[in-house]
Amino acid sequence: MSNLSVIAGKSSEELAKKLSKKINANLVKSEVRIFADGESKTTLNGKISKKKSIVVQSIYPPVDTNLIQALSLISKAKETSSEVIAVIPYMGYARQDREFLPGEIVTMKVLGKLFKGAGASKIIAVDIHSMIGFKHFTIKTKNVSAIPELVQYIKKLSLKNPLVVSPDQGGKERAREFAKELGSEYIALEKIRDRKTGKVQIKTKNIDVVNRDLILVDDMISTGGSIVKATQFLKKQKCKKVYVACTHALLMNDAEKRIKKAGVIKIISTNTIPGKTSIVDISNTIAKAI
Ligand code: R5P
Repeated sequence: MSNLSVIAGKSSEELAKKLSKKINANLVKSEVRIFADGESKTTLNGKISKKKSIVVQSIYPPVDTNLIQALSLISKAKETSSEVIAVIPYMGYARQDREFLPGEIVTMKVLGKLFKGAGASKIIAVDIHSMIGFKHFTIKTKNVSAIPELVQYIKKLSLKNPLVVSPDQGGKERAREFAKELGSEYIALEKIRDRKTGKVQIKTKNIDVVNRDLILVDDMISTGGSIVKATQFLKKQKCKKVYVACTHALLMNDAEKRIKKAGVIKIISTNTIPGKTSIVDISNTIAKAI
């Protein structure tokens, strides 16, 4: 038995497998049965290390189902391993990190208590929406960036004089880092979101992107609203090709179709969320963080 076990949650099976190889850990799979009422029954399939276990489980939809499975695996691992690390590649609920409207519950505070209570001593996430989310945790936290891996992929496209664009001011720092790694310029648009309806609008008026290939960079795509609005605006400004690079592509409902219809040539995302666009493997970056 190795001193290190990687426990693969159902939502991150492939990523956990890749990670276990990179860090020479024994891989333990889990089985899940969903009962008719929606409850998850999670079973660990194999023996785990007495020393250290790493549970890998992204919290994408069905979010609460994947969350309870992550907590269950951590809790079970803690019965055997003296140290349990939770790798949550896509940290669901991270956008609920502050009280935007009076009375709103800061769900990240709740998650902080749940992960600690389940037995995790440390959480590792990839490009958490904002570091404010982790301020609500009392256990150790680490956020790793997928930007270097995404940029490696973009470099292969050999774009001429590309410009990195953040769809909003909140993503300005991300765009700056991305552009630095790529060796290009960057800009950040002004986006406003109606806190009640969730609808977004681009407030930026005129920018010079004529004939330039653009890379829209974001941490995540959910409904696709931000990317669609940004692309429609950029196309009106007469840019050339628009690519999208993001860490977590949730692509809810027909988001991919609407993004393509708006004029995006290709969506490039990482395997924190498995799917058609997840062409960038992030296991190396996570392995380095462990
Ligand atoms: C917002 O601040 C985030 O960085 C993303 O831009 C946003 O969550 C994406 O959501 P949607 O695809 O629904 O616009």
